[in-house]
Amino acid sequence: MAVITLASSKGGCGKSTTAIVLAGQFAEQGYRVRIIDADPKRRVVRWAASGMVPETITVKAADHTSLATEVRNAELDNDVVLIDVEGSANMVVSMAIGRSHYVAIPANPSAADVEDAIQMVGLVNDIPNNAGKPAVHAVLWTRVPTGFRSREFNALAKQLEEAGIPVCDVVLSERSAYKSLISYSTTLDRLPTDEVPSVDKARSEGRALAEAISAAILGAQEKAA
Ligand SMILES: Nc1ncnc2c1ncn2[C@@H]1O[C@H](COP(=O)(O)OP(=O)(O)O)[C@@H](O)[C@H]1O
Ligand SMILES: [Mg+2]
Repeated sequence: MAVITLASSKGGCGKSTTAIVLAGQFAEQGYRVRIIDADPKRRVVRWAASGMVPETITVKAADHTSLATEVRNAELDNDVVLIDVEGSANMVVSMAIGRSHYVAIPANPSAADVEDAIQMVGLVNDIPNNAGKPAVHAVLWTRVPTGFRSREFNALAKQLEEAGIPVCDVVLSERSAYKSLISYSTTLDRLPTDEVPSVDKARSEGRALAEAISAAILGAQEKAA
């Protein structure tokens, strides 16, 4: 069982999209997945309400009064719990971090996103999880333009490296397939490949991301044992 939070203090950097990508991947691997939508906008609740979502993925809404109970309930009958939060550094985010095995901090390749990601890493490091340690965490580059890496991107990556911030090896590129997750209200494996471009590339990024996160969680558990 693993609890994974998508956290950033910024809206629009790809938290909900990444939660949906990971939910689809873990469901495809045969896991029962619960997404806890702790964003008052409830986009993920609406995404699931469409009925195009695999039945092994369930979504529940939560706020600061119900998050702890929802996580406990989710842990009873799911293998993976994904917590999607609002883009701010509020109490819900801190509560979610404190209950997580892994925190992914999505950031687009921009100076503002990197600044916010560094702040979020600071928060994660200040919050012990159930094991009494900060959750395993990494910045996840999202909406990365395909093709050559720009000089700006390389400079931002170097800034994170110099600050000693862990960065996920896998990136989610800028692809219309990711946008289509909301418009088609479904998972990557169910998107129509004849209508949406590069679904296969998005699927392989999603699979690699799910594997990287699983490996990081397992690695931390083995180290603790
Ligand atoms: N990798 C991506 N490629 C293309 N568009 C993306 C990608 N990730 C997110 N988006 C788009 O960016 C917008 C914000 O993403 P979202 O996941 O809702 O961010 P957040 O939950 O952090 O506010 C949405 O329109 C979404 O479709
Ligand atoms: Mg969101």
